[in-house]
Amino acid sequence: MPIPDSFLDALTERCDIVEVVSRYVSLTKKGGNLFGLCPFHNEKTPSFSVSPDKQFYHCFGCGKGGGVVSFIMEIENLSFPEAVRFLAERAGMPLPEEGGDEELPRLRKRLLALNKEAARWFHALLWSPAGEKAAAYLERRQIRKKTAVNFGLGFAPDSWDGLLRAMEEKGYSASELLSAGLAAKGKKPGSAYDKFRNRLMFPVLDVRGEVVGFSGRALEEGQEPKYLNSPETVVFSKRRSLFGINLAKNSKRGSILLVEGNIDVVTLHQAGFDNAVAAMGTALTTEQTRLISRYAKEIVLCYDNDPAGKKATERALDILRDSEFTVRVLKLPDRMVDGKAVKIDADDFIKLHGPDAFEQLLKGSGGGMDYRLMELCGRFDLSTDEGRVEYLRAACELIAALPSPVEREVWSRRAAEGAGVSAEAMIRETEQVRKKRSRSAKQQYERSSVRPAAQAQPQARSLRYENIVSARAEEGVIRTVLRSPDLLESCPLEPEEFSSPFLRSLFETLLRRRREGLSLSAAALLSGLSEEESTLLAQILQAEDAPGSGEDALADCVRVVHSEYVKRSGDLRAIAELMKNKRG
Ligand code: UTP
Ligand code: MN
Repeated sequence: MPIPDSFLDALTERCDIVEVVSRYVSLTKKGGNLFGLCPFHNEKTPSFSVSPDKQFYHCFGCGKGGGVVSFIMEIENLSFPEAVRFLAERAGMPLPEEGGDEELPRLRKRLLALNKEAARWFHALLWSPAGEKAAAYLERRQIRKKTAVNFGLGFAPDSWDGLLRAMEEKGYSASELLSAGLAAKGKKPGSAYDKFRNRLMFPVLDVRGEVVGFSGRALEEGQEPKYLNSPETVVFSKRRSLFGINLAKNSKRGSILLVEGNIDVVTLHQAGFDNAVAAMGTALTTEQTRLISRYAKEIVLCYDNDPAGKKATERALDILRDSEFTVRVLKLPDRMVDGKAVKIDADDFIKLHGPDAFEQLLKGSGGGMDYRLMELCGRFDLSTDEGRVEYLRAACELIAALPSPVEREVWSRRAAEGAGVSAEAMIRETEQVRKKRSRSAKQQYERSSVRPAAQAQPQARSLRYENIVSARAEEGVIRTVLRSPDLLESCPLEPEEFSSPFLRSLFETLLRRRREGLSLSAAALLSGLSEEESTLLAQILQAEDAPGSGEDALADCVRVVHSEYVKRSGDLRAIAELMKNKRG
């Protein structure tokens, strides 16, 4: 029996590729990707990369690449179904052929019920004598009882089996607690112990109000880690969760306020900012933005004003760049202590200055460009000529990247004002940078697209392209659609216009998945492919984008595929014509 797509989707969602690969390869972060020594060939310098956003790996050395399933196939030497089984077992997901079609929903239901019971138990303990320590902690952090109740906060006692025993009494097995991530396996076979101990517990609820996971804050100085989160489980995916979304979705504010910490969320709600959510220690993901888009059209980023928070802001701005959201950045001021600037978070700000001051900051917060220019201003000494020139040069680079000429002019003016030079000069300068850049981007792209034919061919013989010009454009279609799935709506191509059978089948899968309402991710496509096919797909995805917007790139590719198709079918028609004449 073939494994249903919905199951493969659920599986690839649960099995984060970084987590899986890390069991075999030690990875270090570089930019948005992680790098390590390739496990598939011998090397001394790391050329093996893993992309957490796209959920695939690629080795620039040996060319191997694919998704989480093909990684396991390769490294464990397993067939596709075996690799699926291997991953499913570790993720605690019963396979569909083992009655899983009913099994999985049943397990999910059980785990959600268990989580709810556990949350109730933690919550009750917070107000019992045993929870005194946690209640005192809340008081110290100025979190009122009403707020704690609203969030269902709780206390996990310093015990190895407190929760286990309480839940067993309610009919849940140790193995269910393991699957829910509430218990961990002990050294002795079959033994288990409570995972959350001596912590302030934040239940994580989804938009339906189900308790999907937990985040536990250390109560003791030096207790590590500071926050312990639920692992990925059948009901919890960190990439898809936002702490506070169950409450924020009902906010009347019309925007979502994205902060860094759980405590920030709680404090902000208490102060009347009931639209605050936090991504629980990860960079903002596209899954999370999709979730937010159901409730708000505006996102206000309010990360800590330390270097980590600034980085997170930049990354979030990147993710949101081509989105439909109006994006604003709320910049928290430093706190001055004895003439020295101290970095603070939203929680600190509210406690120092109160809700009204925060409301003022919120009102005054500007867009992403405003924020970036302000950051630039802070980096140069604008009182000197050199500083101003440096500042303007950096600003030009930033502004030249904006697609709209009107926007470029507005921001050129703004930057010029900031540095006290003439706006016209600045506008000219930006346009020049832009022209230069688009010229060199085009040249570079053209150079890379007119690779010698041999190089443009897939390594695997069975996948060879008959029409390289068309196939390159077909690759472009697949790449652009996977980068921005919404573009598939505006892609007028028919599958038969594809010249490469493999690329056509990918395109057909995309169309089918859209019809069935399934996600259009690279990971979803990768799961059914042979090793050679997934290597090729990974290479296609790694290739550079054509300069310009995704829409333009798609239109260019569509034009090429279409005209090549017309050429081909034109030939056929001509042949048919000839045959007829001959017969006649
Ligand atoms: P912070 O260290 O800024 O925590 O981490 P915080 O919420 O402001 O907590 P306080 O104010 O120090 O008590 C921000 C978020 O990053 C995640 C948590 O979700 C935290 O809320 N995090 C942090 C982890 O997941 N693990 C950690 O070890 C630390
Ligand atoms: Mn904090």
